[in-house]
Amino acid sequence: MENLKKQVGIKAAEFVKDGMTVGLGTGSTAAFFVEELGRRIHDEGLSIIGVTTSSVTSDQATKLGIPLKSIDEVDFVDLTVDGADEVDSKLNGIKGGGAALLMEKIVATYSRDYIWIVDESKLSENLGSFKVPVEVIPYGAEQIFRKFTTAGYAPTWREDDKGNKLITDMHHYLIDLHISEIKHPEQLAQELDLTVGVVEHGLFNNMVKKVIVAGHDGVKIIEK
Ligand code: A5P
Repeated sequence: MENLKKQVGIKAAEFVKDGMTVGLGTGSTAAFFVEELGRRIHDEGLSIIGVTTSSVTSDQATKLGIPLKSIDEVDFVDLTVDGADEVDSKLNGIKGGGAALLMEKIVATYSRDYIWIVDESKLSENLGSFKVPVEVIPYGAEQIFRKFTTAGYAPTWREDDKGNKLITDMHHYLIDLHISEIKHPEQLAQELDLTVGVVEHGLFNNMVKKVIVAGHDGVKIIEK
């Protein structure tokens, strides 16, 4: 699996050109992309600015010598490359398994081009095999949790290593929804968007046009 992730990470780095501002995703697959960018800066003298999507990626990029700016310091991002937890046949996706969905969605929103890199195990016809992370403001979070229970979404709190509620980079909680098959992701996204106290959710509907997939038969690009 690590090898498949590495293959798509390296492939995606081919889309990065000198002078670009590049959104750097989060997760074990995106980490291979960031590593390859670090190598290209070092070996080829590639000049880029990185905009990171989490504190973890900021740490990795800094160690690799990738110059960074925040999303507010750039006019726009040329290209963002990120992983995903699940991708359906229409290229809607679920993200946030690594708790970085809020920064990931903000950076993606201001990117002219946006690519996901996944191994083939992440592809499915309809979303739902992966939980839907929902980032919420701590005040009133228990009320939102109850509302999700009543709606039948089988919510669970995202916890840290010590069993406490996880605090995201932006100081919120995460509630994971366990919905076995999401036939209408747009409808669910709209419901979550309208829930007071929800900051953002991990449904990334209609945001990506290109997904690079690694499987045992090689690397392929799915586009819409
Ligand atoms: C981080 O919050 C996520 O959105 C990741 O991009 C996603 O979980 C994919 O991570 P992996 O590449 O580690 O599976």
